[in-house]
Amino acid sequence: TIQKVHAREILDSRGNPTVEVDIYTGCGFGRASVPSGASTGSNEALELRDKDADRYNGKGVLDAVDNVNTTLAKELLGMDARNQREIDELMIALDGTENKMTFGANAILGISMATAKAAADSLGIALYRYLGGTNAFALPVPTMNVINGGKHAGNDLSIQEFMIQPKGADTFSNALRIGAETYHALGKVLEDKYGASATNVGYEGGYAPPISTTADALDALVSAIEEAGYTESEISIGLDSAASEFFDGEKYFIDGKKIAPAELVDYYLDLIETYPILSIEDPFHEESFEDFATLTSEAWDTIIVGDDLFVTNVNRLAKGIEMEAANALLLKVNQIGTISESFDAANLAQRNGYSVVVSHRSAETEDPMIADISVAIGGDLIKTGAPARSERTAKYNQLLRIEEELGDAARYVQL
Ligand code: PGA
Ligand code: ZN
Repeated sequence: TIQKVHAREILDSRGNPTVEVDIYTGCGFGRASVPSGASTGSNEALELRDKDADRYNGKGVLDAVDNVNTTLAKELLGMDARNQREIDELMIALDGTENKMTFGANAILGISMATAKAAADSLGIALYRYLGGTNAFALPVPTMNVINGGKHAGNDLSIQEFMIQPKGADTFSNALRIGAETYHALGKVLEDKYGASATNVGYEGGYAPPISTTADALDALVSAIEEAGYTESEISIGLDSAASEFFDGEKYFIDGKKIAPAELVDYYLDLIETYPILSIEDPFHEESFEDFATLTSEAWDTIIVGDDLFVTNVNRLAKGIEMEAANALLLKVNQIGTISESFDAANLAQRNGYSVVVSHRSAETEDPMIADISVAIGGDLIKTGAPARSERTAKYNQLLRIEEELGDAARYVQL
């Protein structure tokens, strides 16, 4: 049973405050911390910030911390940490709002994550096994963000993320090695072409070169894959457009031009023809279910991922499934605010033939929990940044440990 719940304010990888929660049971302990986005979807659960201009430019989270330490802690004391769903549902009911604005999704999620960890620890079971059972043995393909654009970098790239996916590897550890080698080859390619400052990095550890067109970024990736000694069948490319960020209500601003949604469909179809692109996330703005559906039907063998479109919310995902608006769900625990609801979204996706991509946020902490979640869910891909910077490698390194523990039972997902 839960004997103590304690939250504190810590810093995330952007240097902003976030919530960390400790939960003690009689025989176990769980500590979890909450990530934060920059290109957040408007339909995400609410991240409660103090708005006290005298502290951290208004970004303090002392109110959320206080909600954990007072109201919520009192309710949770004496509950069984193994009853994840009961605890999550109680917090949702006490909050009473659609977007968790009473306590803040950051307060609720911190408890939800720490509860799972405390329960696993109390039972002496690894977290991925506690959450996923004995059928949790598949290691996801890492989709590593190696060129940062959009809101995540100071360059002129409209597309936010250019990712490499070592799908041809035989094991997760080899995939990670292939990704890291290619990341370094890319650094060399960028430095040779654009100078030493081109290897400065953005929020997710990817390079942020002074490139302004999608084609230039993709050409650099293709050169890097070749330089590293790999082929396009071994490493594919993933994009996250985060297109709400370059949509003005009518047109999309990309490669220095404003284009209509229908032209953007053709733009993507051209890219898929020209480059080894396996996945495109948020190709259109967050309410454009129809344009998503058009691209999904035309790019039939491409993974079309809904992030800001679905915000890990079963209602929005159900609408997307109905409209055939994508074929993959991006799963971010802080978009919805509890572990139980995140698993509900993954289940709905998988029952309908959608892939699941478990994802970090652009501001992360050293908490590796999404690695365990991705194995527990049986996710096809994990997106957690470049193979560099500790808040990113914390997750990849945790997958190495899980792979090691599974031993011969481990399987690397074949896409
Ligand atoms: P964010 O970006 O964490 O800044 O929202 C990640 C993404 O769009 O996938
Ligand atoms: Zn995204």
